[in-house]
Amino acid sequence: MLRCRRSSPPVRPRLGLISSRIDRPPTEPSVPEKHSASSDLPAVSTTSHPIPPTLHISRHPAVLHKLAVLRDVATEPKKFREVVRELSWLLGYEALADARVRPLEVRTPLETMTGHELADRIGLIPILRAGLGMVDAMLELMPTAQVWHLGLFRDERTLRPVEYYNRLPDSATVDLCLILDPMLATGGSATAAIEVLKRWGAVRIKLVNLIAAPEGVEAVTTAHPDVEIHCAALDRQLNAVGYILPGLGDAGDRQFGTGRSD
Ligand code: PRP
Ligand code: URA
Repeated sequence: MLRCRRSSPPVRPRLGLISSRIDRPPTEPSVPEKHSASSDLPAVSTTSHPIPPTLHISRHPAVLHKLAVLRDVATEPKKFREVVRELSWLLGYEALADARVRPLEVRTPLETMTGHELADRIGLIPILRAGLGMVDAMLELMPTAQVWHLGLFRDERTLRPVEYYNRLPDSATVDLCLILDPMLATGGSATAAIEVLKRWGAVRIKLVNLIAAPEGVEAVTTAHPDVEIHCAALDRQLNAVGYILPGLGDAGDRQFGTGRSD
């Protein structure tokens, strides 16, 4: 059960719009769309920061609903893990929408036709620890994907990423890399991961996050404007110790039950 109180009438998201790249004519100022309670679209973001064209914020009703469950402080680790998995599937589905396919001859019981098979070799790069919870769902979606783990944690004092695990082979073995990490906060971890992958030889890289902060989006898009970001929400801001507001707390601790109990 969600604890959120419903304060406005239900809103009906636009049907058929799975991923919302906020496309605008070049002359229009880059501001997020605002939706009032009377509009038929839910707000995609709780910030007034500009939304760059490489940022895709999902508006799928299932994503919106599950995200509220995930944010709820009363959601226990078991349910939290389940919802991380479900959201990852939905965001992964959107992020992989432009993966390349090639024609393939298929014999149905009735005749032969031209179908398609995946042409891109997909690499999933979960950032340890919290990104681990996103892997299984993505593998369901793309069973042939390769999984390359990267271990990065954020130094609590400096907020800078520290790399502690990387077993990537000498050169890139995939065409399209999806970096999996529930949280994009300062963007330090994501930027470090992208740099590791680019040094590896990766050409096409996307980030899949559950929640992004404007600070993190700006850091990534400034350093790597070629990297697209798929997320379920763009939140308001970071707090003084680098946590996303309103956010969901510590994604690793909430998945693995390691938060402080006091
Ligand atoms: C969290 C999160 C990201 C990072 C985001 O990991 O999963 O990797 O912080 O913050 P940033 O954008 O400021 O770099 P954390 O360092 O808590 O490690 P964990 O996954 O092991 O808990
Ligand atoms: N890492 C998290 O797990 N949560 C935040 O809000 C920021 C970084």
